[in-house]
Amino acid sequence: MPEFKTLGQFIIEKQADFPFAKGELSRLLRDIGIAAKIVSREVNKAGLMDILGHSGAVNIQGESQQKLDVFANAQFISALRSGEECCAIASEEEEDVVGLGGSGAQYIVAIDPLDGSSNIDVNAPLGTIFSIYRRLSGDGSITMEDILQPGEAQVAAGYIIYGSSTMLVYTTGKGVNGFTLDPSIGEFCLSHPDIRTPAEGRIYSINEGNYIHFAGGVKRYIKFCQEKDERTYRPFDSRYIGSMVADLHRNLLKGGIFMYPATASSPKGKLRLLYECNPMAFIVEQAGGMASDGLTRIMELQLSELHQRSPIFIGSAQMVRQVEKLLAGNEVPTFEGVENGLKF
Ligand code: AHG
Ligand code: MN
Ligand code: MN
Repeated sequence: MPEFKTLGQFIIEKQADFPFAKGELSRLLRDIGIAAKIVSREVNKAGLMDILGHSGAVNIQGESQQKLDVFANAQFISALRSGEECCAIASEEEEDVVGLGGSGAQYIVAIDPLDGSSNIDVNAPLGTIFSIYRRLSGDGSITMEDILQPGEAQVAAGYIIYGSSTMLVYTTGKGVNGFTLDPSIGEFCLSHPDIRTPAEGRIYSINEGNYIHFAGGVKRYIKFCQEKDERTYRPFDSRYIGSMVADLHRNLLKGGIFMYPATASSPKGKLRLLYECNPMAFIVEQAGGMASDGLTRIMELQLSELHQRSPIFIGSAQMVRQVEKLLAGNEVPTFEGVENGLKF
């Protein structure tokens, strides 16, 4: 049982590790933690909102009913705006960058405010994913170079899982720590210090409904996971809830691989590099795992667009290496097209 410590206490304690102006990043993480508590409260009553909003889309506070992902987006933007440490936000819910105009603010936040939103109606786990960069341009107007930095430039990244309990997991490049929300005191408390992911996992997570559209190497890897081999504990278990945060959180703790490859209908994959793949790659690498697009380390990929997508293979290092190996020998064409250097 770790020593009792709140997220706020932990952030202050660890800020000396951070090379830049100490207090700013701490305040930014604290602001994200506050917005996460508000979103957690709303997510927990999502079923009720439908009843309360039934008659005219007006909720109990008299506000117009909003979809939860729009609500979450507004909450995070509002918390970051009032915190004044963030100068711009790139959000899944916003077509363009949202400038916050804080004078002297040095940080940029990329965010998926609500991940797995198709799970809202069925009371399954949801998440939030965030990533923090320092701006390159110093001051004045934000440039696209400030926003489109490669994953390697992240100074912090994290996710919140709204599951059977709400947890916030984050890294500033010195390992990964997890905090569970204690609703009785309204605080995130350190529950999972120094998370390490097993090098060899036994869970594979992929939407197998897309099987016929996968590259030959991905198909071979799925078969590899399903084959019997007692020495390597195969067949592995297949687990997929359709919420990247929930699927990855389970695999991070238990060991496993999460895959969202290219398909015929999504030749660049589905998940977005800036606010889904890069932050998760930073966390998983910091926990000892790997993240790849099949050929290249996710965090080395160059961004040219805000909502750019990438295939992703992420999780236990041995498993990611194995997929990369099978993709490299990918001689069975399943559909036309060459994306990210991969032949299909
Ligand atoms: P979002 O709800 O932010 O749009 O993300 C959904 C993503 C991700 O969470 C999940 O892993 C993936 O979509 C599931 O996609 P499929 O339904 O195609 O499997
Ligand atoms: Mn998402
Ligand atoms: Mn989303």
